[in-house]
Amino acid sequence: MILLKNLKKNYGKNNFKAVDIKSLYIKKAQIVSLIGPSGCGKTTTLKIINNLIQADEGFVEINGEKNTESDPVLWRRKIGYVIQKIGLFPHLTILQNISILSYVLKRNKKFIQERSYELMELVGLNPKDYKNRYPLELSGGQQQKIGLARALMENPPLLLMDEAFRSLDPLTSRSMRKEFLKLNQKLKKTIVLVTHDIQEAFEMGDLVVLMQKGRIVQKGTREDFKKNPKNLFVENFLNKKN
Ligand SMILES: Nc1ncnc2c1ncn2[C@@H]1O[C@H](COP(=O)(O)OP(=O)(O)O)[C@@H](O)[C@H]1O
Ligand SMILES: [Mg+2]
Repeated sequence: MILLKNLKKNYGKNNFKAVDIKSLYIKKAQIVSLIGPSGCGKTTTLKIINNLIQADEGFVEINGEKNTESDPVLWRRKIGYVIQKIGLFPHLTILQNISILSYVLKRNKKFIQERSYELMELVGLNPKDYKNRYPLELSGGQQQKIGLARALMENPPLLLMDEAFRSLDPLTSRSMRKEFLKLNQKLKKTIVLVTHDIQEAFEMGDLVVLMQKGRIVQKGTREDFKKNPKNLFVENFLNKKN
């Protein structure tokens, strides 16, 4: 389980808080969609969870361990981070891209080979055909799959995904999302997924968390939002995006 408690982040501009989250509890194997208008603090929240930036106040707890009391590098190894711009290394092959963290951790060759082949098959790319290619020789959807395989290499219990399906055309995006949900029925990862697309948020998330100006305005299921939108902002957000 993951707990965000009293998280506050001010980037140094006046009293403006990029993130101001009182409490968010995420159960094991739950998929949480974090949604809200541009600039509401979604990416900052993910970066705090990942210990890429530090909150001014509050803490993140994963399975009983607090980020404020652990080594940031070790902390990050428990987490797979998938970002919109994919971030594959253009001069490394697909195999090298997927297994880079395991190289850094000096895993043995056998493990690296077996695990990266397994992951390529898992995301539907035949290792023999793809392992020696370079990222630019792959389509956007295929690159996204490699980004996901890389995040899964060291089998982290938690996955953070920041607009991971955004750079794809709508059709590819939809089929990737479907495949991903199917895949996760096997993997059972806990996932925090950032999106600006309300359809995607409802489709993917067991729990949807709507943010505004750094704060959580409302959280719940699709039904909760439809039946009981908390205020006008929520109503407008739901309507505008549909
Ligand atoms: N490195 C930074 N320095 C200063 N302000 C930042 C920085 N990163 C984000 N912000 C500000 O913090 C707020 C939240 O940003 P962000 O978390 O990226 O929002 P979102 O991902 O929801 O679009 C925005 O107002 C943004 O301009
Ligand atoms: Mg963002």
